[in-house]
Amino acid sequence: MTRKNETRIVGGKWMVDDEEESEARPRKPRSKSKSAGVVKQSYESNPDVQRWLSEQAIGEGRKAPFQPNFLAGRRDGDWVLSSLNHFYEQDLICDVISEVKSGKEATVFCCTADPSTGVEFMAAKIYRPRIFRALSNDAIYREGRVARDMDGRVVRGGRGVPGRATQKGRAFQIESWIAFEYATQQAVYAARVTTPQPFSQIGNGILMEFVGTPEDPAPRICEIAIDGGIARRLYDELLEDVRRSLLAHRIHGDLSAYNILFHNDRAVVIDFAQAVDPRLSQDAFDLLLRDVARLCSYFAPYGVRANPHEIATALWEEYLQGT
Ligand SMILES: Nc1ncnc2c1ncn2[C@@H]1O[C@H](COP(=O)(O)OP(=O)(O)OP(=O)(O)O)[C@@H](O)[C@H]1O
Ligand SMILES: [Mg+2]
Repeated sequence: MTRKNETRIVGGKWMVDDEEESEARPRKPRSKSKSAGVVKQSYESNPDVQRWLSEQAIGEGRKAPFQPNFLAGRRDGDWVLSSLNHFYEQDLICDVISEVKSGKEATVFCCTADPSTGVEFMAAKIYRPRIFRALSNDAIYREGRVARDMDGRVVRGGRGVPGRATQKGRAFQIESWIAFEYATQQAVYAARVTTPQPFSQIGNGILMEFVGTPEDPAPRICEIAIDGGIARRLYDELLEDVRRSLLAHRIHGDLSAYNILFHNDRAVVIDFAQAVDPRLSQDAFDLLLRDVARLCSYFAPYGVRANPHEIATALWEEYLQGT
């Protein structure tokens, strides 16, 4: 016999039978629209069941927890994991393979990319907790790393902006310039500058296409001797990158042989942490000149003769005419 409120599947739907109840108690006359016999109420319409079904659906779709072996036992493992986990949840990375480089402020990891991204490996640049501590002595401000909004405007506080003296305020400052670094990489990538394709940024992490392979990461041009036969072409291409960036309202601000990778006979510009929007920076021309001058001095031993001041002035005039 069917017990009270027993559940069974009818026509692919969860149904509740209330036959026993109907036998035990006199029943109100049914409305005409209801069929005779067993009263069937759609189980799915029950709010508790709906909640349970949706929880199951989420459970089924939820990914296994992100536990890359590479991070096991690392002192900063939890911190790195919490940053990389966002990219895993966004279906951008599947695993962490190696640490590429650990600098003053950030560590770069090589990750396996999710196949849906169209690239094989990703570089995850994760700013370290040290950067949050560095703020306590105002080092960041001395470096000109003020908080900016997504358009590069300096954020000076006001409603909804935590004061920089507080922990929350510092975190906000840092996050905003990491977001600006990422926004810059997006802008110059869109302007066809040779730079890794940016994929995502969240909190203290930036995710981009990896240059090279895990076994053979692209070297920085400061670490290698360039074939003299291609030096002039590389120099011209880098100057064109500077020009395209400028036309996209960005000056790298730290363009040097330390921030240029070499891969497949091409120079690849990275690290936009010091970038500025020339519409908003008083030092724009000086920063442009410094970037150009560094390029010129790197390529001088390869026989490239150039006058940085003339080049920067010409680029600047072209830029001003277009704005
Ligand atoms: N997309 C990438 N593909 C491959 N390697 C990368 C990539 N991005 C960064 N790297 C490696 O990580 C290093 C550090 O990256 P980046 O210059 O962006 O950070 P940084 O904070 O300036 O570090 P540093 O203090 O060492 O200059 C680079 O010199 C390069 O070796
Ligand atoms: Mg760098």
